[in-house]
Amino acid sequence: MSTNLHARPAAASGTFAVGGDLPVHRLGYGAMRLTGPGVWGDPEDPDEAVRVLRRVVELGINFIDTADSYGPFVSEELIRKALHPYPDDLVIATKGGFSRSGPGDWRALGRPEYLRQQSELSLRHLGLDRIDLYQLHRIDPKVPLADQLGELTLLQQEGKIRHIGLSQVSVEQLKQARELATIVSVQNLYNLANRTDEDVLEYAERENLAFIPWYPIATGELARPGGPLDAIAKDHGATPAQLALAWLLRRSPVMLPIPGTASIAHLEENTEAARITLTDTEFEALSAAA
Ligand SMILES: NC(=O)c1ccc[n+]([C@@H]2O[C@H](COP(=O)([O-])OP(=O)(O)OC[C@H]3O[C@@H](n4cnc5c(N)ncnc54)[C@H](OP(=O)(O)O)[C@@H]3O)[C@@H](O)[C@H]2O)c1
Repeated sequence: MSTNLHARPAAASGTFAVGGDLPVHRLGYGAMRLTGPGVWGDPEDPDEAVRVLRRVVELGINFIDTADSYGPFVSEELIRKALHPYPDDLVIATKGGFSRSGPGDWRALGRPEYLRQQSELSLRHLGLDRIDLYQLHRIDPKVPLADQLGELTLLQQEGKIRHIGLSQVSVEQLKQARELATIVSVQNLYNLANRTDEDVLEYAERENLAFIPWYPIATGELARPGGPLDAIAKDHGATPAQLALAWLLRRSPVMLPIPGTASIAHLEENTEAARITLTDTEFEALSAAA
């Protein structure tokens, strides 16, 4: 056991069963930043991106978050190139519902025919027959929610999607969505320094839905030298990024952080956070520090 944890540290983060039937190690990986600037186009060094993804799996991470809109499709294609045929226990969560027309440009687009097209393209780009977790990247306010979730439910009935998740929603929206479809996860902005969506996390925890905090280390801001975690990190012999992630893992058993990085060194550092167990006092000190 200890040897295994040593070689595959992500296992130390514990397990959560997404949708009740897809067990993953709680510390995952976000593949958005493997693309070019503005989440647009190819990365400068695609071979390095492939090496990062292979290292992700070697470290015991078996939950990877991506989206059709990352690139677009660059992130999904890199995942396929690096990891297909996929390990049996790997869960790839992708998303649809944004259109892209240039670097940094994102527009919610939830028309049923677009969601169908994008999910079919994700299947092809990822090289899958079925997507384990398909997340509606944003609810499109111009399209009835029943139409957006209705199409995803159809895709589910056709066997193209296993589970449906949501992203960046309020508790009200989550409740409304759950009357229309079976929702297993919610992916919202949440980190030690930004806990605006505490109510969504609490709801997810009560209902045993996976809560996937995006921006978990706030683009490295929480890891910055002299930042809010620096002093506590030094006391603990850990880095600020590791403490930010250990805090999230400790915060809730339904928490599945997906830190993103294009660097193997940062990936290894972040994954080691799974092995850090914060005491109550440390948890409280971190909660108060940021
Ligand atoms: N649902 C949504 O709307 C939504 C929105 C945004 C993101 N996401 C998902 O969430 C994932 C994570 O979000 P994110 O990438 O915005 O935020 P993040 O994971 O908090 O931050 C990633 C950034 O932090 C840096 N970093 C990572 N590890 C570090 C470390 N140990 N020390 C210092 N800097 C470090 C990375 O730079 P290096 O590459 O140099 O390490 C990268 O620029 C994305 O990959 C994506 O899958 C979802």
